[in-house]
Amino acid sequence: MEQDLLYRLTTVTEAAALAGHAWLGRGNKNAADNAAVVAMRELLGQSPIDGRIVIGEGEIDEAPMLYIGERLGRGGPAVDIAVDPIEGTRMTAMGQANALVVLAAGARDSFLSAPDMYMEKLVVGAAARGVIDIDRPIADNVRAVATALNKPLAELTVVTLAKPRHDAVIAELHRLGVRVFAFPDGDVAASVLACLPDTGIDMMYCIGGAPEGVISAAVARALGGDMNGRLLLRREAKGESPENQAASELEARRCREMGVTAGAALRLGDMVRSDDIAFLATGITKGDLLRGVQRYDDGRLTTETMVICGKSGTVRRIRTRH
Ligand code: FBP
Repeated sequence: MEQDLLYRLTTVTEAAALAGHAWLGRGNKNAADNAAVVAMRELLGQSPIDGRIVIGEGEIDEAPMLYIGERLGRGGPAVDIAVDPIEGTRMTAMGQANALVVLAAGARDSFLSAPDMYMEKLVVGAAARGVIDIDRPIADNVRAVATALNKPLAELTVVTLAKPRHDAVIAELHRLGVRVFAFPDGDVAASVLACLPDTGIDMMYCIGGAPEGVISAAVARALGGDMNGRLLLRREAKGESPENQAASELEARRCREMGVTAGAALRLGDMVRSDDIAFLATGITKGDLLRGVQRYDDGRLTTETMVICGKSGTVRRIRTRH
């Protein structure tokens, strides 16, 4: 991917982070998200690309902006874009750590088009590439990762989200002697931590959003790591109820329309089809991965952005004073 385009995309995630940050700690996650969406959409619209949103804020009828299929840009190379304008709307609204703006970009058809539903995800870094299998029990997967990393289970660290649906898996991992870090929210940040070699985190497991899953797959591919996923209907992720049943029927229909199968294992190559992709994340709140937006005494703001280039595996951190 061209350096000029990477630079341009950096300005897009920075602008969204600054806009979302204006709502930090105000208890209004929708306002924060909306501000980031508007900023991101405006800058993508000014970019010299023939851009197409493949992962965004949802379907056209439920999201007026950054909807799946929306075309953006003033013309240029064909670029598919997967975005989450705020990965961690609750964290932004509550002033919690690890809220990010995330964006992945690649040539046409680089990414899986998945409906906005849940996904079970397993992510590892390059040293454990090829050993995970989401069709196998979690115990087999952590043993395989420990063997690949040449360490005992007691030295393995798995990151997940602190959600009731993960209680059984967390208990199982503790029984095996594995260390578990459970973040309140934000599995893209958790996936990046699992893929980077110097974070002390060896694997990410969770059931979270499918859009976040495809963006995490871009990180795994760009960093030479690995990921397996499985689309889940709402009732499988959140339990049986009339609402979850109705949502599941809609999701099943969207899966048929989009040519994907809920319940089937997705390998990394199914979710991201090229190495020539880029992943960018700008911190909104301070976190394990990035500094958040910071205000200095002179009133100016700084951002920190991580830019990962899939073709070369280069990881850059760009600090910008605005
Ligand atoms: P938001 O930006 O919508 O707050 O998402 C944060 C997040 O934790 C994601 O990282 C994760 O994939 C998803 O929510 C999990 O969904 P749920 O909140 O329904 O458990």
